[in-house]
Amino acid sequence: MKTSILISLAVAAVVLAGCNEKTQEKAQETQEVAVQTVEKAKEVIANVAEKTKEQTQEVAQKVKEEAQEAAGTVAAKVDSALYGKCVACHGIDGKTKALGKSAVLAGQTQEELVTKLKGYKAGTINVAGMGMLMQGQVKDMSDVELEAVAAYIATFK
Ligand code: HEC
Repeated sequence: MKTSILISLAVAAVVLAGCNEKTQEKAQETQEVAVQTVEKAKEVIANVAEKTKEQTQEVAQKVKEEAQEAAGTVAAKVDSALYGKCVACHGIDGKTKALGKSAVLAGQTQEELVTKLKGYKAGTINVAGMGMLMQGQVKDMSDVELEAVAAYIATFK
């Protein structure tokens, strides 16, 4: 009787030990799978983050380009508006000799035009006796406006 109990206990111990080993193996496997899953998830997140970054950069670039284009259009409109009051005498394309007296504006560089316009503003230029008249045209314009209108006229060929 005692011996059989001892044997049963021994068998139970062996079986339990076996089970314990299997459980440990299982736990080990589960842990490995968990680690792999986490790695995979990290990879996926990194990929999504990279893609999102690329897409955001693309959108930002597009917005930037559109904004620059819009700004360019506005700037061109402002420049041509500044030339609006000059059209009557110098012509829409800058090819008219104003009042039959001035030189033709078309073909002049922005630099030449700015120098002349600033000269008229300062009252130091009077080529055909009409310096005062031109001073009246530009005296209320800022240097920035003179440069802008000159840049616009410089596009006339
Ligand atoms: C009422 C007519 C009239 C208007 C408007 C007028 N101008 Fe003139 N512009 C003249 C006359 C006339 C001269 C010649 C002045 C002189 O005797 O030096 C002249 C000269 C010039 C010159 C020098 C040309 C050269 O190469 O010698 C420039 C540049 C010029 N005008 C630009 C402008 C601009 C820019 C505007 C508009 C903001 C303007 N003018 C408006 C009549 C006009």
